[in-house]
Amino acid sequence: MQQYVFSRTLRENLDNIELISTDPVAVVKDLKQQQGKDIWLCDGGDLATTLFSEIDELILKVNPLLLGAGIPLFAGTFKQTILEFTTSKIYNNGFMLLHYQVKH
Ligand SMILES: NC(=O)c1ccc[n+]([C@@H]2O[C@H](COP(=O)([O-])OP(=O)(O)OC[C@H]3O[C@@H](n4cnc5c(N)ncnc54)[C@H](OP(=O)(O)O)[C@@H]3O)[C@@H](O)[C@H]2O)c1
Repeated sequence: MQQYVFSRTLRENLDNIELISTDPVAVVKDLKQQQGKDIWLCDGGDLATTLFSEIDELILKVNPLLLGAGIPLFAGTFKQTILEFTTSKIYNNGFMLLHYQVKH
C-alpha cells in the first residue's frame, strides 16, 4: 500500500512513505484520478477538515469509553452535512464500526 504523510513541518524522508507539503486537496484530487483502490485517510481533526470536500465515506469507530475531553472529530466549524448510514459491525467487547456515505 502506498502511504503519504501530509506535513508542513517534517523534512526527513521515511522509507516507503511519501512526505507531502503541498495542498492536500489538490494531491487527493490527483490521487483519485489515478488507478488503484480506495484511499484511506487516517488522521485527526485538522487534516480531516481540510480534506472534507474529498471525503466520500466516513467510518466511525465507537469505543465504550467516555474520555471527558479530547481532540474533536473535525476541527473548527464547517457546513452541516447529511450522512447516509450504510453498514455497521458491533464487536463483543462493545466496540462499533459505523459506515456512512457523505452527502456533499
Ligand atoms: N481518525 C482516525 O482514523 C485516526 C486514526 C488514528 C489516530 N487518530 C488520532 O488522531 C489524533 C491526531 O489528531 P490531530 O487533531 O492532532 O491531527 P491533525 O490536526 O489532523 O494533524 C496531524 C498532523 O497533520 C498535519 N496537517 C494537518 N493539516 C495539514 C494540512 N492542511 N497540510 C499539511 N499537513 C497538515 C500536521 O503536521 P504539521 O504540523 O507537520 O504540518 C499535523 O501535525 C491522534 O490523537 C490520534 O489518536 C485518528
